[in-house]
Amino acid sequence: MIKGRLRVPGDKSISHRAVMFGAISKGITNIKGFLTGADCISTISIFKKIGIDIEIQNTAVTVKGKGLYGLSNPGEILDCGNSGTTTRLVSGILSAQNFTSVLTGDKSIQKRPMNRIIAPLTLMGADIKSNNGFAPLTITGSSLHGIEYNSHVASAQVKSAILLAGLYADSPTTVIEPAKSRDHTELMLKKFGADLYTTKTSATINPCKELFATDIDVPSDISSAAFFMAAATLVPDSELILENVGINPTRDGVIKVLKDMGANIEIINSNDEFEPVADIKVSYSRLHATTIGGDIIPTLIDELPLLAAVASMAEGKTIIKDATELKVKESNRIKVMCEELSKLGVNVVETEDGMEIEGTNKLLGNVTISTHDDHRIAMTFAILGLISDGEIKLDNKNCVEISYPGFFDDLRKVNI
Ligand code: S3P
Repeated sequence: MIKGRLRVPGDKSISHRAVMFGAISKGITNIKGFLTGADCISTISIFKKIGIDIEIQNTAVTVKGKGLYGLSNPGEILDCGNSGTTTRLVSGILSAQNFTSVLTGDKSIQKRPMNRIIAPLTLMGADIKSNNGFAPLTITGSSLHGIEYNSHVASAQVKSAILLAGLYADSPTTVIEPAKSRDHTELMLKKFGADLYTTKTSATINPCKELFATDIDVPSDISSAAFFMAAATLVPDSELILENVGINPTRDGVIKVLKDMGANIEIINSNDEFEPVADIKVSYSRLHATTIGGDIIPTLIDELPLLAAVASMAEGKTIIKDATELKVKESNRIKVMCEELSKLGVNVVETEDGMEIEGTNKLLGNVTISTHDDHRIAMTFAILGLISDGEIKLDNKNCVEISYPGFFDDLRKVNI
């Protein structure tokens, strides 16, 4: 059973942004609870290459910001590793610098769509050359103009790239989304002194002269905590408290859906200073099927593979729809989840914009899962391995390092 208390590592989205925004602010930004996963380390290494002094000590990071115009020519290719957030957000910043830079990443990054940022940034006056819409991206800094942009995807990465470029534009920039994506950029840029205002599905930023350093306390990542919410829900007799989890309403869809499926989840000790944070108590419960679709999708986009896995143990047929974005994540997460859940004997069908999962009460084991080097696929099946009939092996365990170094240690710690 899953028992005890656990504080999972810092939020990935907030950690990336704390380094980026600190780098382009005047003064020293002290970050506490930074996620030292490979993705955020890619962000740090890029900002070091463009002239920013950054020190890391465990999960404490100090960024010596040089202001909006203090970055310097890297003179070498910038490697974003596996990180879409790094590639897309940094593109927004580099579009306005007075040098040319080249951004690339691993095999997965080179397959992820970049036209979604190239198109709006080009409308703002950016000069970006790509490999037919894919990385490597060659970005030559230009003077930028404000735009009003209607994004066809609800993507915080797209929204953030445009807002960051908007800091440097000569007039206000507005991004309108079909549904609200995570709003860490908006909350954090305001904390760094940007002039920004939002409506339900839009954000407008005014041209900025300077941002100013501020200290950032990063909450635990709800996307990482979700694996343990699922574990405590699925394994009989479990009761677990997850500490200091970020419960920003643009990220908490996983809690809503699990509760809707019958999970036993209680929010305790919540506080809302910079980003809402709470302890979360989860205990075992039997689950029933649900339908997940519409505006809730961006608020649980990274948790959908896990929710599909949880649905395989819920009574009835769960439908996931409006989730085509899942096809362009670190792997095609719809296809991969359907293929890999089938190996466990689950009846699952891929649909045009999601999947349909028939609940069962028995998962086969003695199988090897193809993770496609996708951290969230690996952790999802590690959780199902707690309740399967035999061992579930992963073809690549190490990919969890992208977002959750120490995942397997934490799992051992609470699995008693
Ligand atoms: C992220 C936004 C999401 C999410 C990703 C991190 C961010 O992507 O899937 O893991 O930090 O802005 P999209 O905004 O492109 O959906």
